[in-house]
Amino acid sequence: MIKWVYIEDISKYVDQEVTIKGWMYNKRSSSKIHFLQLRDGTGFIQAIMEKERFDDELFKKVKKLKIETSMIITGRVRKEDRAPGGYEIDVTSIETVQEPIEDYPISKKEHGVDFLMEHRHLWIRSKKQWAIMKIRNEVVKAIRDFFYESKFVLIDSPILTGSIGESAGNLFDIDYFDLGKAYLSQTGQLYLEAAIQSFGKVYCFGPTFRAEKSKTRRHLTEFWMVEAEVAYYRHKDNMKLQEELVVYTVNRTLKNAQPYLEILGRDTTKLLTVKTPFPRISYSEAIDILKEAGKDAKWGDDIGGDEETIISQKFDRPVMVYNYPKDIKAFYMQLNPENDREVLCDDMLAPEGYGEIIGGSERIWKYEVLLKRIEENNLPLDAYRWYLDIRKWGAVPHSGFGMGIERLVAWITGIKHIREAIPFPRTIYRIYP
Ligand code: 4AD
Ligand code: MG
Repeated sequence: MIKWVYIEDISKYVDQEVTIKGWMYNKRSSSKIHFLQLRDGTGFIQAIMEKERFDDELFKKVKKLKIETSMIITGRVRKEDRAPGGYEIDVTSIETVQEPIEDYPISKKEHGVDFLMEHRHLWIRSKKQWAIMKIRNEVVKAIRDFFYESKFVLIDSPILTGSIGESAGNLFDIDYFDLGKAYLSQTGQLYLEAAIQSFGKVYCFGPTFRAEKSKTRRHLTEFWMVEAEVAYYRHKDNMKLQEELVVYTVNRTLKNAQPYLEILGRDTTKLLTVKTPFPRISYSEAIDILKEAGKDAKWGDDIGGDEETIISQKFDRPVMVYNYPKDIKAFYMQLNPENDREVLCDDMLAPEGYGEIIGGSERIWKYEVLLKRIEENNLPLDAYRWYLDIRKWGAVPHSGFGMGIERLVAWITGIKHIREAIPFPRTIYRIYP
């Protein structure tokens, strides 16, 4: 029996005969030789099929094979410095598994984004999309390891919820049996706040939903967020934790995902500067930066995507903008004791124009203060009974944050639009495939 191996392990099998099970994503032929480009999920390799070794009929049949034929090939592994990846395989036998029913719609020519998005179920086979997902895989693992090593407990939060987490404006609602409206979760934060009373340091990691009308390259209607919450943490502790997480994740990705970053042509020198401490500027200072840049910005304005880009361009690593006006932030944020028009929060802006990757804050922990804020925001008290309850028994100051995975991955990979940072993106225009 000849051993079935994966392409990523091929260097261990030089001069041996092995079997590879995969797909032919491209091919080139001359009269005497076929060059089959294969992938198997772990990597890419060129398989060489020499005419003289095969009967005529088989050689001709392979010439006609369509792109994306699934196949099992057996052959000898050869070190070949000129080959991408450094190895080639001399085919001794070939077996097709399925020959495509039609020509593959994605070719080497330039396709428009709409076409590619419409064919996302096929597009994820392409090398660049493969590299992005492999990097996402590393990023997620790094984040989980960071929290595990830092003794955080994973507390999965529900996706169906009765309480509005962030803002009423962009909720997806559904009819929930006899109980009225339920919502798709915008955040797991509120549930993490309950959990810290039992576990101290917790995190959740899952899909979140925003019925965003935004059509920007930074917005999805379904995105993945990792959120952390820590009992007794204040605003400053919270910002420190955020920068440690980002540095850890970027470093681990640089270490483990180098080949994938290379496929994407990412200039990784821009990621090597990501070290602590990250610069911290107040919201008011951010407004000054915008004014200096000729923007018509005044205190109280929200900071949008273009403005974030202007601010972040001043720094070679992520920057934390802290203490925003309370009127443009969520109801649960702790007021700044030194200025009650502000809240103790921060947004982390990624470099190179990737915008806000983290939003975090110290939370209101006193019962009466939170009750007042819920009323001021006209939120339905009944739905927040449990959230208020947390403040009745042994409440403590606490802080936390949420980081958007697709925005983080977009920045690390250097891709333009976050829709390529998630396997099957959901936007206001797209629910297919
Ligand atoms: O700033 P946001 O809205 O914060 C929260 O939801 C807090 N409850 C988190 C917390 O404190 N536990 O969202 C957090 C992050 C943003 O910084 C951004 O990276 C990402 O989630 N995000 C989006 N990513 C893609 N598409 C969208 N529509 C996003 N909205 C937010
Ligand atoms: Mg935010």
